[in-house]
Amino acid sequence: TAPQKFRIAAIPADGVGTEVVAAGRAVLDAIEARSDGRVAFEWQEFDWGSAYYAEHGMLMPEDGLDALREHDAIYFGAVGWPTVPDHVSLWGLRLKICQGFDQWANIRPVTFLPGITSPLRKADDTELDWVVVRENSEGEYAGFGGRNFGARGDKGEVAVQSSVFTEVGCERIIRFAFDLARTRAHKKVSSVTKSNAQQYGMVLWDDTFRRVAADYPDVETESVLVDAMSAKFVLHPEDLSVVVASNLNADILSDLGSALAGSLGLAASANLNPQRHYPSMFEPVHGSAPDIAGQGVCNPIGAIGSAALMLEHLGLPDEAKLVQAAIEATTAQGVRTRDVGGTANTEAVTQAIIANLG
Ligand code: NAI
Ligand code: MG
Repeated sequence: TAPQKFRIAAIPADGVGTEVVAAGRAVLDAIEARSDGRVAFEWQEFDWGSAYYAEHGMLMPEDGLDALREHDAIYFGAVGWPTVPDHVSLWGLRLKICQGFDQWANIRPVTFLPGITSPLRKADDTELDWVVVRENSEGEYAGFGGRNFGARGDKGEVAVQSSVFTEVGCERIIRFAFDLARTRAHKKVSSVTKSNAQQYGMVLWDDTFRRVAADYPDVETESVLVDAMSAKFVLHPEDLSVVVASNLNADILSDLGSALAGSLGLAASANLNPQRHYPSMFEPVHGSAPDIAGQGVCNPIGAIGSAALMLEHLGLPDEAKLVQAAIEATTAQGVRTRDVGGTANTEAVTQAIIANLG
């Protein structure tokens, strides 16, 4: 029979993004090779990012989204380099794709891997496993505001950065979190806001959470302020299963979660357009890591874990589980990059994961 074909757009972009996307592609090539012709990935690679910006004055071409639209998924590295202001690179590429393709759900599992030392002593003898669900289309990253109000040139400049919360936007991400909780052993959703201080948008979020929760009586709930939740990540993470939060709050909490799991280099993520009107995008949580880029020593596991999330989204759950199991077998064997206390380079970890696919 003809293979099931998946068209994947690869955007390695900057720094270690190029190294980890190559690692993830090698793992997916191995998945294809061992599928006996059942699965085929058709790759198209795009050279967008900070080098493209140096030449063209933009991070991706004007019609870039059109070039991506017909793909089944996007596999992304990281964007950002010291030669381009970070807000220009982030808005010019990653956020353009997330917002242009209405990828309103950003899923960031916090996974504790065998053989990886967590800075949390509790992790040694406690089962820890939770998922941060990040609202990915509005909130604090709505891009709403302006500068140069007030007295210019006299240190009197004023900037306004407004958040946008819509009831539709809140409801869809909260429902997504509840639906996800129902698939997990621990059926619980923790909603995170700062609604004592942010009395409009985040109170709308809280109200929506309470309303939606009524439709899921089988799921345990809690509403926690973000400052308290950051403490809870450290002190009582065993109480967490699905944590749903606004764009900025979830961004910060998920970095904390990945650090607690051992390294930012381990964390995977999916930017989903759950209606599947547009392609979804899969990327490690980390950035371009200019401090270690080009040395071949970065941790590829965040990107390879993101490839597993992509397989799941493409309807290949067995292959997704296989990749995740190979990651776990590899860390358990002690094959680790130096950010998690090892001596192996990116290539050695990638090859070990491929070998552990069986
Ligand atoms: P970063 O995530 O690039 O690096 C933070 C720290 O984590 C560094 O010490 C780095 O060496 C380490 N690290 C990151 N990934 C690693 C990996 N795979 N293996 C081992 N260690 C790893 O964050 P930073 O330094 O704040 O930002 C650097 C650039 O990346 C900036 O231009 C920023 O805007 C951009 N960025 C892009 C993101 C994206 O494209 N999604 C996300 C975060 C930052
Ligand atoms: Mg972040």
